[in-house]
Amino acid sequence: MPFPPDFFDRADPTPDDAFYAPPRLVTHIDAGAIAAVGARYEELAIDGDVLDLMGSWVSHFRRAPRHLTVLGMNAAELAANGQATDTVIHDLNHDPRLPFADASFDDAVCCVSVDYLVEPIAVFRDVARVLRPGGRFVCTFSNRCFPTKAIRGWLYASDEQRCAIVAEYFREAGGWEEPVVEVLIAPTSPGRSDPLFAVWSRSVHSGT
Ligand SMILES: C[S@@+](CC[C@H](N)C(=O)[O-])C[C@H]1O[C@@H](n2cnc3c(N)ncnc32)[C@H](O)[C@@H]1O
Repeated sequence: MPFPPDFFDRADPTPDDAFYAPPRLVTHIDAGAIAAVGARYEELAIDGDVLDLMGSWVSHFRRAPRHLTVLGMNAAELAANGQATDTVIHDLNHDPRLPFADASFDDAVCCVSVDYLVEPIAVFRDVARVLRPGGRFVCTFSNRCFPTKAIRGWLYASDEQRCAIVAEYFREAGGWEEPVVEVLIAPTSPGRSDPLFAVWSRSVHSGT
């Protein structure tokens, strides 16, 4: 699926460090959706050396991985993350290459943030590089965002189209098995939880 030229434009194209300078010690999805993220991580047995990409002060694991590296934009948010063993400030929209050696991690996750990437295919390609072969990259998302910082293509997409967009990032990046798309909480489910979707895949990159 080719993405149109303005697909990755944003209403606020200024560098992300200004927007993310104030710490936001809040949750971006409700308790039901957070619980579903943690449950899926546990079912998938995400553990070992794990990378939480575009992280903040909560990483949503029911039980912290043995070693959790959290990469984000705000030092105070990352310092408040009780599950993190390492934290890294890095702007993926300034440089989509991850500041890690090949095959550094067993698994990676990215929660409610994939919609802010302006070069997602380069980022997904580099996630494959830093994962050990067979490592999973689990992207979860809902239907909320900072609209000025989300890419245009995301803002105009339906939930179903957003799942297809993330699946296409994996395919175009290369180094991944055919992605799995999961509706963890349907928008129509009874109760008041935020909807939640997961798109994930397994690295087939040799790491060399
Ligand atoms: C909606 S919050 C989600 C935080 C966390 N993943 C969670 O589940 O609560 C979006 C996160 O994306 C990160 N982020 C946004 N733009 C980024 C960029 N250009 N590079 C790296 N991280 C970024 C921010 O630091 C912020 O923590």
